[in-house]
Amino acid sequence: MGKKKSGCEKDKHRKKRRRPDHERELTRAYFLDGETGPWAMKLAAKESLARLGADSVDVLEAGAEGVRTGTGTEAVAAGPETVATSTGAGDRQHRGPDYSQPSSIDPLTDPVLHALATRRSISKVGPETPSDADLRELIRVVSSVADHKALRPWRFLIIRGDDRLRLGAALDEAAGETRRPGEVNTKPLRAELLLALVASPTPHPKVPDWEQHATAAGAGHLLELALWQAGWGVMWRTGTLTNAPAVRRLHGLDDTELLMGWLYIGSVPERYRSRLATGTRPLPNPDQFLDTL
Ligand SMILES: Cc1cc2nc3c(=O)[nH]c(=O)nc-3n(C[C@H](O)[C@H](O)[C@H](O)COP(=O)(O)O)c2cc1C
Repeated sequence: MGKKKSGCEKDKHRKKRRRPDHERELTRAYFLDGETGPWAMKLAAKESLARLGADSVDVLEAGAEGVRTGTGTEAVAAGPETVATSTGAGDRQHRGPDYSQPSSIDPLTDPVLHALATRRSISKVGPETPSDADLRELIRVVSSVADHKALRPWRFLIIRGDDRLRLGAALDEAAGETRRPGEVNTKPLRAELLLALVASPTPHPKVPDWEQHATAAGAGHLLELALWQAGWGVMWRTGTLTNAPAVRRLHGLDDTELLMGWLYIGSVPERYRSRLATGTRPLPNPDQFLDTL
């Protein structure tokens, strides 16, 4: 049986260096400059240490080189080792954050936490949309979603232009609705771009369908967040007819697949922008979501 760690030992691992105020200010400046959270902290730490003298900077540069060549990763505890810098402030090169130690939890300076805390659905999006190339890039990124056995049990379908009319017609057919000539179901026209999310499970002895549905939903949520972070408005919609035969047929689903709904995507109209800039929706008390066994 493993030896239990004493409280003191645990504290030793938990304790983090408190960043001095000037370093926090630098972090904030980097964030406002468009740097991301962990990167901003590392850049701030590097500049902070650089103030101590040229010798420290040499050590740091040596550490950065160590990471580039795959050695000495552990040697530089201060953290800026993953930032390869050159002399100019404007041409910093990023190699990716250092995840070897936890970073601080600060939704103000960390853009991922900030996006998570501030995301909201935009029910009436504007007409501009991300390009298919943008969508490809974002979908590539969100494929990091937790995925038991990496079965990739989801796919997205792009619905633009007249394809939205076909979706409206399929919804009408499912509802048994007939319209006068020239009239259309306008629901899918609420955005110029819809992305249908399909859960597409693969039979697996260790990964039941419900787990694969959870992964597909996760991909949808991550994509919603990624679009938000990229500046796009999104609202995830479904309906009682989402998996009606006519709607499933239009999306080309096979029997094992499940339509999880549509992300309605577009620009964030000005009226929302000003509201978002001035007001924040209070986040709920986390205690209601947290308990012990
Ligand atoms: C799977 C799923 C289906 C949804 N379907 C609808 C829908 O059909 N109509 C709707 O008004 N909201 C729907 N929502 C909720 C909205 O997307 C949105 O989350 C809600 O309006 C709350 O806004 P918020 O995201 O800013 O908190 C759905 C959400 C999910 C995750």
